[in-house]
Amino acid sequence: MEPMALALILGWWLVAASRAQHLPRPSLSRHPSQGVSLGDTVTLHCHLPQSAAWVWLYKKGRRTYSNYKNKVQDTAEFSFMSTNREHAGIYWCQYQVPWSSEESKSDPVELVLTDRRFPPPSISLSPEECVETGTNVTIQCWNKKYGAAFLLHKDGCSAPTQRQDPDVVGTATFTMIGVTPADSGTYRCSYRPKGYPFLSSPLGSNVTLEVTPTPAHPGAADSSHGNLVVAVAGGCTAAFVFILVLAIFFL
Ligand SMILES: *[C@@H]1O[C@H](CO)[C@@H](O)[C@H](O)[C@H]1NC(C)=O
Ligand SMILES: *[C@@H]1O[C@H](CO)[C@@H](O)[C@H](O)[C@H]1NC(C)=O
Repeated sequence: MEPMALALILGWWLVAASRAQHLPRPSLSRHPSQGVSLGDTVTLHCHLPQSAAWVWLYKKGRRTYSNYKNKVQDTAEFSFMSTNREHAGIYWCQYQVPWSSEESKSDPVELVLTDRRFPPPSISLSPEECVETGTNVTIQCWNKKYGAAFLLHKDGCSAPTQRQDPDVVGTATFTMIGVTPADSGTYRCSYRPKGYPFLSSPLGSNVTLEVTPTPAHPGAADSSHGNLVVAVAGGCTAAFVFILVLAIFFL
């Protein structure tokens, strides 16, 4: 009985030890990260936490997409020299180290390609004029024929700020409740065409939102300034009196 129990304990310990030693996960990134059009070159970088024997790139819906078995130090690069519609989709990478059969897999990354054959969407801003802080602002985007999901982009931000599905007439409505001066900027839309979730239309024309700060209560700034002057003057007077007392004491 005793050797059997020992073997069980040893077996359990080996399983526990191998479980505890999970390979750290790789991460996958796109270069350039945004705005890649059909025909452009794009590279997917698989960042490896340690040297790998094998690195695979997978695409959702396909078996092994591409593999790499060089002496990879910390990044495996997978390049598409001239992208086509087939390249758009969801990717992840996976690696294996020489001493283990375990594989470790990255989070998925979307490769979205801009197809300039789709017309850009239209855009409108309401209210149009310069608005005060706290106003509710609406941006509408539409392309009745092709648009299946609309994305709102703000110039200077790399990722889209919001995503919306269109209503029955093909218009997506983005509402910004209680805008602040930080919302000021230039906005544009793009859409994902019907049936092509990983293709994008080009960006459409822009609208400019200008939010003015709420005017402060009249005199509020002046009175706080006044208080500060009084406090400083008070502090100086106290110091002056203190020095005077010391001088009298020592003399
Ligand atoms: C802005 O929208 C919010 C939420 O819909 C609403 O409660 C508020 O009254 C609106 N403000 C104005 C100024 O219309
Ligand atoms: C926005 O569009 C107008 C024409 O509609 C153009 O003159 C202006 O340069 C554009 N602004 C930016 C920031 O691209």
